[in-house]
Amino acid sequence: MTKNSALETGEAIQAKPLVEIDPAKCVACGQCVSVCPPHSIIRQEGKTPPKFADNGWCLRCGHCVSVCPTGALSHIEMAPENIRAIDPAWTPEMIEMFLRSKRSVRHFSDKPVARETLEKLLEVAAQAPSDANQQDRSFMVLTDRALIDGYEAAVIKHFRDTHDQLLASGVDPMFWKLLYIRPLLAKYDAGEHPIFRGAPSVVCAYARKDNNFGWYNCAIAMDYLMLMAHSMGVESCIVGFSFNPSEIGHKFLGLSDKYQLHSVVALGYPKYRFRRTVQRRPADVIWRS
Ligand SMILES: Cc1cc2nc3c(=O)[nH]c(=O)nc-3n(C[C@H](O)[C@H](O)[C@H](O)COP(=O)(O)O)c2cc1C
Ligand code: SF4
Ligand code: SF4
Repeated sequence: MTKNSALETGEAIQAKPLVEIDPAKCVACGQCVSVCPPHSIIRQEGKTPPKFADNGWCLRCGHCVSVCPTGALSHIEMAPENIRAIDPAWTPEMIEMFLRSKRSVRHFSDKPVARETLEKLLEVAAQAPSDANQQDRSFMVLTDRALIDGYEAAVIKHFRDTHDQLLASGVDPMFWKLLYIRPLLAKYDAGEHPIFRGAPSVVCAYARKDNNFGWYNCAIAMDYLMLMAHSMGVESCIVGFSFNPSEIGHKFLGLSDKYQLHSVVALGYPKYRFRRTVQRRPADVIWRS
């Protein structure tokens, strides 16, 4: 059976306590005990501070550090300078407008995205949830024009081959697959970039092939990345053509067999500014109250 997480493999078991509690600051409220997902922080008698369980599991989720009301608790693998107080200065209305204002952008200006900006986006993407906090999603960033164009050429070749094979097999020329492939090939042959849209940067996310949740880890990290980008005026589009099927990108990027490519996003400054929100169908929901 495939082992899917550090929890299953036991890799997360700790021989030594990872959590330190300053008894002078601890008020024995028990919140760290309550929130620890693998129940590795144990309550003690009376006002004695809790302690990390012998051979406890630790996901490195940081919930204990985050929840402590007095700042008494620290995690030995989490540097204090990387832990910031949360000041919820946003309103639901602001967040809603922010989310509704994001569009998939397919026309980019020539302005490159600065390395520091890309680094910030990846830093935030790495904060996204992941199964058992394994953080199993890795990124490859393409900013080299020739590399992006080469990837695009590989994707186009795949579509051209598919197109020709379908026609040769005698399918109806109006078959839906041919209908979406044909315009891509026509645009490409006319000198356009129908896959990566001329974006100055492309971010690819991949995870271990043996992780059943790898696709989700990649998808949600890329969502964080795209939303952070949107907040900074950098826009994006998920380029499904470039990772479905994933083998083309996998091969082009030179990923090892250990990994699977799950997401590819084009990033850049937008050529056009979207000024209004759009309408979507209402959520399709079944309520079972
Ligand atoms: C694909 C995926 C599956 C998850 N499955 C579970 C789960 O079954 N039970 C659970 O308690 N948390 C689950 N989580 C939450 C993770 O454990 C959590 O994201 C991780 O520990 C990091 O904590 P954070 O989200 O608070 O930053 C899952 C997260 C992801 C992305
Ligand atoms: S980091 Fe998470 S798993 Fe580890 S002790 Fe703290 S709450 Fe528990
Ligand atoms: S959350 Fe902080 S104050 Fe409360 S018991 Fe844990 S260490 Fe002590």
